[in-house]
Amino acid sequence: MSERQGYQDFKRRNKAALAGGGKERIARQCRDDRLTARQRLEFLFDEGTFQEFGRFVTHRCHDFDMSEKAVAGDAVITGSGYINGRLAHAYALDFTILGGSFSEANTAKVCQALDSAMQQGTPFIGLNDSGGSRIQEGVDGLSGVANLFLKNTMASGVIPQISAIMGPCAGGASYSPALTDFIVMIDGKSHMFITGPEVIKAVTHEEVTKEELGGAITHNQQSGVAHFLTHDDQECLALIRELLSFLPQNNVEDSPRKKCLDDPRRSATSLNEFIPEDQKQAYDMRELIKKVVDDGYFFEVQEEYAQNLVIGFARFNGSSTGIIANQPSILAGALDSNASRKGARFIRFCDAFNIPIVTFTDVPGFLPGKQQELDGIIRDGAKLLFAYCEATVPKICLITRKAYGGAYCVMSSKHIRGDYNFAYPDAEIAVMGSEGAVNIIYHRELTENGSTAFKDQKLAEYQETFSNPYIAAKRGYIDEIIMPADTRFKLISALERLRSKKQKNPPKKHGNMPL
Ligand code: HXC
Repeated sequence: MSERQGYQDFKRRNKAALAGGGKERIARQCRDDRLTARQRLEFLFDEGTFQEFGRFVTHRCHDFDMSEKAVAGDAVITGSGYINGRLAHAYALDFTILGGSFSEANTAKVCQALDSAMQQGTPFIGLNDSGGSRIQEGVDGLSGVANLFLKNTMASGVIPQISAIMGPCAGGASYSPALTDFIVMIDGKSHMFITGPEVIKAVTHEEVTKEELGGAITHNQQSGVAHFLTHDDQECLALIRELLSFLPQNNVEDSPRKKCLDDPRRSATSLNEFIPEDQKQAYDMRELIKKVVDDGYFFEVQEEYAQNLVIGFARFNGSSTGIIANQPSILAGALDSNASRKGARFIRFCDAFNIPIVTFTDVPGFLPGKQQELDGIIRDGAKLLFAYCEATVPKICLITRKAYGGAYCVMSSKHIRGDYNFAYPDAEIAVMGSEGAVNIIYHRELTENGSTAFKDQKLAEYQETFSNPYIAAKRGYIDEIIMPADTRFKLISALERLRSKKQKNPPKKHGNMPL
């Protein structure tokens, strides 16, 4: 008996949709080990769990012979599935169909997937590989991407949104990823820019390669637009799976707790000798972090950008925690504009998604310099300050060595609602370092009668008065002075006590962060 006509038709249509842009374009897509849009989704989700919707959607454009170029799915695959057993929604642009361009019809599919993610309270992941808005559609294509920008904005702070840039991401289309929480790029394969090299050459006569302009290295190291640098499709998708393991499903849930096999009471005796006694000697703060978090595992975010501030996720006794730390080995850990913006954005993410923040402070202050002032260090430093002040999640701070001046106030101090503030016995909390302070306080005496003995005596006096954590502890600005070896247990114990913390800011439409 021959198969019913309707079933045959269904199978034929399905086959055509699964064929994407055809063999030739798929072969071109797969050069340099790139995966197709479908393969990417299969890799991203737990095996066999991805459920597609909108497979037969086509565009509705008739201009420029577009009726002949209507392919089922219209260059984007949308749907939901499970990642490490937890539901997530996603879309993947298919570059083999009209260069993965965003049309009115396919952006409606993406918006629908984002609506579902919001309603079901799940993360939303975009796999981008696109020439941008579909040129043939004119304003209809633009309306599609603009609708998506609005949805991304409304979803911000409600569900985690992650963007992978797996090929080109050109024009205004790059604003959808830019509105999401994290951007992952692939070295040599992904490019993001508002205007490409040819337009730049025509307008400004500048010659620039697309790699220099919008490659993964550029956006990870220089612009700070991207958060992660990977090297192929598989690494990019595996990283997203791992990132999600630190995040809650939405803003009213907590992050999943992982079974912890690392003893919470483990003391790290090597830490007692880890920080050099000489204040001017650098050390790698990441090594300190690794010595105290579960299994020594630190998942760093924006590793390549503004390295004087380290941010990322780790677990304490199985609980996901946001880490922010000055890095004494880069610019002596001073805060500059880039580091301030990097930290502020991360704090706001953690606060929006109920992830406690642990701050490791070793900061000589804000970076002095004409360029910093002209770049707006006042405004950018205020961003970091605003973000810390505003955050209501548990905030724990550990001063490992220096905490000077405004940077002391900013780095999760007690004054801006730090919940538990610890310091090591050698910590120095002061307005500034002894050399600078003595030069200012005794400026007149030093110019008139500047003997070395006088200066040394004043330096010693200053150090004895301020170069310790006890004055701050006497005033209650430091809750506890701890031995470095006990750091892990002290932090875990504080985090456990703060699990039930509830704090609210005054009702308002929104604050006016110094953007
Ligand atoms: C329609 C597009 C397209 C687009 C690419 N294609 N981009 N079709 N709309 N935006 C089609 C090409 O015509 C081609 O079709 C196929 O996709 C593959 O493109 P190629 O150019 O052959 O590929 P490649 O050499 O790899 O170059 C990829 C590319 C380039 C760098 C992305 O195509 C490019 O520069 N595209 C335009 C990028 C851009 O300026 N976008 C801005 C759009 S306006 P065939 O049939 O030949 O295979 C925009 C504004 C949004 O985004 C504003 C919102 C605020």
